[in-house]
Amino acid sequence: MARTQMKIAVIGTGYVGLVSGTCFAEWGNNVVCMDKNAQKIAGLRQGRMPIYEPGLDDLVKRNYAAGRLDFTCDLAEAVKGAAIVFIAVGTPTRAGHEDADLSFVYMAARELASLIADDTVVVVKSTVPVGTGDVVQRIIGSVRKADTFSIASNPEFLREGVAVSDFLAPDRVVIGVEDERAGKRLIELYESMVTLQNTPVIITMRRTAELIKYAANAFLATKITFINELADLCEQVGSNVSDLALGMGLDKRIGASFLTAGPGYGGSCFPKDTLALLRTAEDYGVTLGIVEETVAANDARKRRMALKVAEAFGGDIDGLTIAVLGLTFKPDTDDMRDAPSVPLIEALQRMGGRIRAYDPVGIENAAKVLDGVDFFEDPYECAWNADAAVIVTEWETIKKIDLVQLKHHLRQPVLIDLRNALDADAAEELGFHISAVGRPA
Ligand code: UGA
Repeated sequence: MARTQMKIAVIGTGYVGLVSGTCFAEWGNNVVCMDKNAQKIAGLRQGRMPIYEPGLDDLVKRNYAAGRLDFTCDLAEAVKGAAIVFIAVGTPTRAGHEDADLSFVYMAARELASLIADDTVVVVKSTVPVGTGDVVQRIIGSVRKADTFSIASNPEFLREGVAVSDFLAPDRVVIGVEDERAGKRLIELYESMVTLQNTPVIITMRRTAELIKYAANAFLATKITFINELADLCEQVGSNVSDLALGMGLDKRIGASFLTAGPGYGGSCFPKDTLALLRTAEDYGVTLGIVEETVAANDARKRRMALKVAEAFGGDIDGLTIAVLGLTFKPDTDDMRDAPSVPLIEALQRMGGRIRAYDPVGIENAAKVLDGVDFFEDPYECAWNADAAVIVTEWETIKKIDLVQLKHHLRQPVLIDLRNALDADAAEELGFHISAVGRPA
């Protein structure tokens, strides 16, 4: 890829900051990633990743060794000479509320105000409600002359688990700017990607860019919820949701992705972003009924999954042992935020079930949010003497599970597959009682 050599600072080394900064360095830029967490920064300098993300480890080490990527806790050092400063700090749901907590974004803006050089472009990459760029502009503008800096929005659309490839080969780049300087600078940064990969670039108003991110996530969450509700109907009328999704998805106007039925969406983005979008709509007196329904239906679905397990035992699991296979909100991540496994396990425990659980990388994080669970690093060991196995996350290790071995380890051959990850016909032939999603019982 052609090299645009720019000094770039990235504030925040979470998913978005670390992946973006590393990939900017991979393009030949000189990048400094800054984070206040000294332990995280020390770890990164020694090649220890704060998150599990396939492919990131090598990329960080390679660019760090080449001197294009550095890590620091010192904001002044990070932004010194930077042509672009990205704000990529977290915007979690505000405790006790449903909107986004923007305190980290505003704190970064306040600290940047006196540190950036003239002509710097400050770009908000964190997912933020519409109008946040205006506030950042005012904060920095209260310290410096308005024409000496620019504020832009450049939302990120990467998915955990495939974050590096999503960043390096995105479907589109969205740039929200209010002045020529910011537009030119960001186009220069993404130029090689656009010329070499023909990536579409949408240049729009800052407020529109901010909204595109929330709208895209809310739409995807709605698409998943739609197929999940159709899966319920399939179970009642005797249809198969996978074939249904295939038949729908091949229509180019619908598209095949995000039509996989399951236990409900989770993660650090869809649940928080749909709520934040609803709050914005409410503030502006607009009703987003479809998104409201999506949030409610997804919450209810996650809670209902425990009943699906209980149904396999005539509604009573008191005293039974359940092996939960897969804990993280999706495969290839160690992220447990809003994972469907958590409400499922808590409900099963309330019904009197004893829980054994397996996950290839999520156990450490799962142990922080789940009580009274025995964790295993091997799926068969987890299944030992359990009355049922419940598939909650479709890890490769789970999709490839040996059904004969699994049956041998279980006390009762009961399988509840909430991801349709296993071959239901093969399981039935082996004598399993199997209950899947969107398939007739
Ligand atoms: C999501 C978006 O897909 C990214 O484009 C966006 O950049 C990111 O949020 C963000 O805002 O930062 P992510 O949360 O990493 O990415 O994961 P997804 O692959 O979107 O999955 C989210 C949830 O939906 C998972 O629980 C997954 O199991 C579920 N899902 C996804 C389904 O149940 N069915 C599907 O067909 C797809």
